[in-house]
Amino acid sequence: MKEKILVTGGTGFIGSHTVVELQNSGYDVIIVDNLSNSRADVVDNIEKITGIRPAFEHLDCLDYAGLDAVFAKYGDIKAIIHFAASKAVGESVEKPLLYYRNNLVSLINLLELMPKHQVKGIVFSSSCTVYGQPDILPVTEDAPIKKAESPYGNTKQINEEIICDTVKSGSPIQAILLRYFNPIGAHPTALIGEMPNGVPMNLIPFLTQTAIGIREKLSVFGDDYNTPDGSCIRDYINVVDLAKAHVVAIDRILQDKQAEQVEVFNIGTGRGLSVLELIHAFEESTGVKLNYQIVGRRAGDIEQVWANPDKANNVLGWKAETSIEDTLRSAWKWQQKLREDGIQ
Ligand code: WQD
Repeated sequence: MKEKILVTGGTGFIGSHTVVELQNSGYDVIIVDNLSNSRADVVDNIEKITGIRPAFEHLDCLDYAGLDAVFAKYGDIKAIIHFAASKAVGESVEKPLLYYRNNLVSLINLLELMPKHQVKGIVFSSSCTVYGQPDILPVTEDAPIKKAESPYGNTKQINEEIICDTVKSGSPIQAILLRYFNPIGAHPTALIGEMPNGVPMNLIPFLTQTAIGIREKLSVFGDDYNTPDGSCIRDYINVVDLAKAHVVAIDRILQDKQAEQVEVFNIGTGRGLSVLELIHAFEESTGVKLNYQIVGRRAGDIEQVWANPDKANNVLGWKAETSIEDTLRSAWKWQQKLREDGIQ
């Protein structure tokens, strides 16, 4: 009997890639998504990739009664992967209450419903944002959590605390917190990928939209940082590799392999790349010349962060495998597919 996994935000960028990998590993997936930042046809494309159509519930995780009904409808949901959240750093500064309500109450609803429906565990989508600018690099899981630079980052920190406090209070649930670095790229089939609404905030979608001519020029936000070439450094991780980390985490929970009731892992490659290095890597791996300009720094950006992934490699048993060149090629192939399909 296939074990059932609930994936909130399962039609989103990381969520959809994780649904594919869960299905490839034999899990039965139920997606809950309010489609506020994704499209329903992602479910069709997941089915095209795996040959299995995941169940889909068009629902907001703020709807407690609606969530309760989903757990009752599917019966024995064994675990949850919780992606559903608002995630635009800049928007969170303009609309903090929207971010606190959406990102905190949706998690609280799930944590309250888990014991009621015998859901064993939750894998939570956290972020390296919780570290702020680390004092020591590469950053490990025991690095101090710094004051968040944005309401978005603060919701990730508070979410982690909510999970830890819930477990400390005696809740039977198990939890794995995955702190992502910078997810990029797309599925090799180019059937699913990153599809930001409006003008992309993140680097790679803006870069590929520039490469295909949707955007006139890519602005590099600063080259006067204390880094080798002056531009910011990040740990860019292939989205399929990231998705696979979630399957390993679900296996760990369901097979009772956890060393503690709550575990935390950095999910990164362990390699830092600057913005300018990434641009050059894109040009070399795709043969496409990029039109870019150096402009002033973006408020809220930290200078440099990349993961020490040893704990994920050695304890979780997961390692990033895809090269940055293949990852950038997958992002470009996805952008070209969007153009072919008349979507962007
Ligand atoms: C990367 C680098 C920019 C755009 C944020 C969140 C993180 C996660 C990913 C949700 C920075 C530079 C960017 C552009 C640029 N969010 N840049 N020109 O800010 O590291 O992380 O998004 O899951 O939690 O914090 O990602 O892609 O926005 O920026 O020069 O047009 O690219 O300054 O150095 P970031 P990003």
